[in-house]
Amino acid sequence: MIPYEVILKKRNGGKLNREEIEFMVMGYVRGEIPDYQMAAFLMAVYFRHMDKEERAILTEVMAKSGDMIDLSKIGERIVDKHSSGGVGDKTTLVVAPLVASVGVPIAKMSGRALGHTGGTIDKLESIPGFKTSLSLEEFISNVKKYGIAIAGQTANLAPADKKIYALRDATATVDEISLIASSIMSKKLAGGANAFVLDVKAGSGAFMKTIEEAKKLAEAMVGIGKAHGKDTVALITNMEEPLGIYVGNSLEVLEAIEFLKGNYDEKFFELCIEISSYMVRLSGKMSEKEAKNALLENLKNGKGLEKFRDLIKAQGGDERVIDSPQKYLPISQETLEIKSEKTGYVKDIDTEKIGIASILLGAGRINKEDTIDPSVGIKVMKKIGDKVEKGESLATIFISKKSRVSEAIKTIKEAYTIAEEPAKKLPMIYEVIS
Ligand code: URA
Repeated sequence: MIPYEVILKKRNGGKLNREEIEFMVMGYVRGEIPDYQMAAFLMAVYFRHMDKEERAILTEVMAKSGDMIDLSKIGERIVDKHSSGGVGDKTTLVVAPLVASVGVPIAKMSGRALGHTGGTIDKLESIPGFKTSLSLEEFISNVKKYGIAIAGQTANLAPADKKIYALRDATATVDEISLIASSIMSKKLAGGANAFVLDVKAGSGAFMKTIEEAKKLAEAMVGIGKAHGKDTVALITNMEEPLGIYVGNSLEVLEAIEFLKGNYDEKFFELCIEISSYMVRLSGKMSEKEAKNALLENLKNGKGLEKFRDLIKAQGGDERVIDSPQKYLPISQETLEIKSEKTGYVKDIDTEKIGIASILLGAGRINKEDTIDPSVGIKVMKKIGDKVEKGESLATIFISKKSRVSEAIKTIKEAYTIAEEPAKKLPMIYEVIS
């Protein structure tokens, strides 16, 4: 077989078999197939797409290109969650301890910020001392002992995806459903869980801008999960506005702690309880009703919060952030209000712009090698449908010396559309695909 044959077959709309997919992916990983042929192959997939079987094979080949984490030593069914990425998405920080608190173990590998979206690992690292790099032995031992561990992905997790993703990034072939779905699911399969709850975001702050696109991605990922014998459920959720109140690393940890103390934004609450409840149900330990009751009970009695404390202590972090987050988290004391220039109703928020503004403040990376400033970010004061008076605050920004303040303010102002007519509030969850 030569690469030319496989590229030609896909370019002409043919269906590839396992041997052909393996030949291209592993040949590329081993350096036997050059960038230009892999780029042509990816462009052929971009225009001709892949069907269910091809996607499942591509995912498996990429997953098996590196370490396949074995979680069987934990001795329980492991349910993982994944978000396709959003702005202010600190869901894992709430859901993981809450689910663990009802006796469903969490063994989670999370990622860093990508594009305009934040990453769980960067957020956790804003807790002083918190270690996100764990050996596999430590990771498994923590899950056994505390019922919870969250770590960064190991360097050798789906290396084929890493290499192909970098090429896709440079050749305008990122946004194709088969390629995105297999990229995400290869890392999930390699992570070793038995079941997955996928939070696929749709809207201005997501990679998928419409519900239709998000649904296609969700269906592709659920199909891949099922093809590999994993129970998989996907929720299509609203990312037309930032999730919850805060955007920024320490600020989002603060919001998660406050949530577990009972102080939460209603819509964010709905999302967290739905995702947690699906995770508990997929563990096989409880019915839907039992899961919801147990989760709500542990939110009320503080067991969810105590599980977050366990996680922080187990991974070397300063547990005092649980009792006094404002004091022990690095949160900037320097703030500025961004005021509305007119009276009306918030009609629309370009949420990608809010994400970009947070990067300009220092909460994300402009260049790959940049370090994140955990202390900066945005408090979102007005959401879609809210009434706003001229001079009233739309957002508060938390800044540092390095923040590009005027650009961030301009970007946040541009993100808001204020209209005279009241706008309809949007639902949090659009659809569930299982
Ligand atoms: N996230 C991933 O891991 N892969 C993609 O292709 C897109 C988003």
